[in-house]
Amino acid sequence: MLRVLHLTDPHLFADPNGSLRGTQTFASLSAALEHYRAADWRADLVMVTGDLIQDDSKQAYEHFRTLLSSLDLPVYCVPGNHDVRTMMRAALQDPPFHYCATVECRDWLIIGIDSCVADKAGGSVNETELARLDSAIAGSSARHVMVALHHPPLAVGSKWLDTVGLDNGDELLARLARSGKVRLAIFGHVHQNFEAQHGDIRILGTPSTCSQFAAQSDIFAIDDHPPAYRRIQLYADGRHGDELVWVADA
Ligand SMILES: [Fe+2]
Repeated sequence: MLRVLHLTDPHLFADPNGSLRGTQTFASLSAALEHYRAADWRADLVMVTGDLIQDDSKQAYEHFRTLLSSLDLPVYCVPGNHDVRTMMRAALQDPPFHYCATVECRDWLIIGIDSCVADKAGGSVNETELARLDSAIAGSSARHVMVALHHPPLAVGSKWLDTVGLDNGDELLARLARSGKVRLAIFGHVHQNFEAQHGDIRILGTPSTCSQFAAQSDIFAIDDHPPAYRRIQLYADGRHGDELVWVADA
């Protein structure tokens, strides 16, 4: 079994006291990591699906590195619309950090996809990324695949969020399905829990490690759900399981 700790949308600032919609993001990410450490569930790797920072600063990426280094695990990251890709790639160029990487571990291949478009909140997986995805799957002997990206590959039922989703989600899902190997797609961006099934592919959106958006809302609205993370188990036979963990005391 392979265990993945899914964290997303920490939105850190250069100022450790920086706050987003009333939540101090450094403190809430710290609390989520502390919650993980205090429990008895152990991960083999961490996947972070974007919006690592909020204020376009190198210092915020440094805070991310400092906090995540303390887990002593490989940390795989993909960018979100709030990230600055050049800065993020530079900050995460050395292990234990990995930027838009592919990792083959036991029976599973995990692929981080860049779904961002410069200066836009919505996303798109460009031809280069689609080709990289196809060749990573074709070139691997792993029998099962999980992909991770920032934007949801399908509508989540919230009018305002669905205008800033993934503009070629249908194409991405069709490619994933065609491979016959993709079991799971995980994402961030929507700051709420989301679970769906698309053919054989389980699709999971994990709430942020900071503040959450109200589900099914037509207009921008936050709700009072606490920070969260998700535990994902990937089994050798392709089955998988997950548990959403709310960090109520963050
Ligand atoms: Fe976000």
